[in-house]
Amino acid sequence: MTSTEPVDRFLDQNGARFVDELKEFLRIPSVSADPAHKPDIERAADFVRRQLEQAGVKAQIFKTAGHPIVFGQTEQTANGVTALVYGHYDVQPPDPLDEWKSPPFEPTLRDGYIYARGATDDKGQLFTHIKAIEAWNKTVGKLPVNVKFLIEGEEEVGSQNLDVFLQQHKDQAKCDVAVISDTSQYAPGTPAITYGLRGILCCEVVLQGPNRDLHSGIFGGAVANPCNMLARLVAKLHDDKQRVQIPGFYDDVLPLKPEERREFAQLKFDEAAFISDLGVPALCGEEGFTTIERRWARPTCDINGMFGGYTGPGPKTIVPARATAKITYRLVPNQQPEKLLAAMQKFLVTNCPPGVRLEFKPQHSCTGIVMDATSPYMRAARQAIAAAFGAQPVMIREGGSIPVVTTFRDLLGVDTLLLGWGLNSDNLHSPNERFTLADFHRGTRASAHLWNELAQQH
Ligand code: BES
Ligand code: MN
Ligand code: MN
Repeated sequence: MTSTEPVDRFLDQNGARFVDELKEFLRIPSVSADPAHKPDIERAADFVRRQLEQAGVKAQIFKTAGHPIVFGQTEQTANGVTALVYGHYDVQPPDPLDEWKSPPFEPTLRDGYIYARGATDDKGQLFTHIKAIEAWNKTVGKLPVNVKFLIEGEEEVGSQNLDVFLQQHKDQAKCDVAVISDTSQYAPGTPAITYGLRGILCCEVVLQGPNRDLHSGIFGGAVANPCNMLARLVAKLHDDKQRVQIPGFYDDVLPLKPEERREFAQLKFDEAAFISDLGVPALCGEEGFTTIERRWARPTCDINGMFGGYTGPGPKTIVPARATAKITYRLVPNQQPEKLLAAMQKFLVTNCPPGVRLEFKPQHSCTGIVMDATSPYMRAARQAIAAAFGAQPVMIREGGSIPVVTTFRDLLGVDTLLLGWGLNSDNLHSPNERFTLADFHRGTRASAHLWNELAQQH
């Protein structure tokens, strides 16, 4: 086994420069959802390409129907393990802007954290792998395994063009195992390997009423109010026990195995700290399941936003012309998005109140996944993490979704090591997103060790 000593030393000596370069990356407002940021998306892709080249990785930008994909690979040797690192350079919109203590695209160091949109999701985390490769190439001169990079710009909007790309470049992406750092540690001081993710199904429902906003005194009471009706409709999605009411919704859900329930229960979960961190008066979820089970292994339905009518200051007396709800379902393995979409549309049509027209817009989806937590690759990752974080990782599932993980399994036949260096308290998708600098450096070291550990697994 190659000594990682010179690699570790290089990481120590160059840590400050890595942070400077990460700041440069974070200054690019690569918001994938907003067409106005298209030039920033392109700048971010090119930044990643240049960083890979600087790390000794041959890299290329591929145009897609949407945002570009950066693909790179180290000098490939004939034998040995090939790992495929995936990450995303796109970020969520920074809104609400006035809740940020420092501007979202002016990375700021404060109290041991780096604050910026994308700090942990996913620029900071994906950067650790680029820097780990750079350290190997600039010290030992080569990697102990073959590493490929696949960095996309549409993760936050559903990764639809990535699937097309992977179908077209299946041979290029061929690998033994995929590696993604885009999840979280279990808790501060307790690193984790994530072996399962929930899937997702997104859609929009619009109720269309009169052909224009109406005076609610002249017309109110005589025509259906789309906002009133939308509230009635979405209230039917759950019962009092927080069970989703769409017929067949739970039909394909595999029950949690008793061992897994026991393993979840063994993880120390501080419910009081969770409640106080979120500022809620109490927790609320599907009856009969613990908080961890509800978050990692049960399907849900959430309204992400509802709007319609007048939302400005002061009163305005109208019957609005339309109302919209953006809805997402989190899915667990074995639930089929297509089947649920049909069930959902039927449910909405059946329950749509009179006097409005319903428009249903299905959006992207991906299935949930659970992977083998005992593979040799998982063992290699455990060792690398223990060496870098000074603590054994726990095996967890997560409630979020990373669509490509399912694609890797279905198309390439490989499992993914989900090695999250961040924390769920890092405010991903929220104002004041951050990444602990110490976790950034530990993650980089864990990545460097991972290549060495993986080399032993062939
Ligand atoms: N990095 C997250 C996913 C994540 C975060 C998983 C923390 C587990 C723990 C990813 O960028 C994300 O936000 N995914 C979206 C996917 C969707 C837009 C298709 C999600 O989960 O909402
Ligand atoms: Mn992410
Ligand atoms: Mn995200």
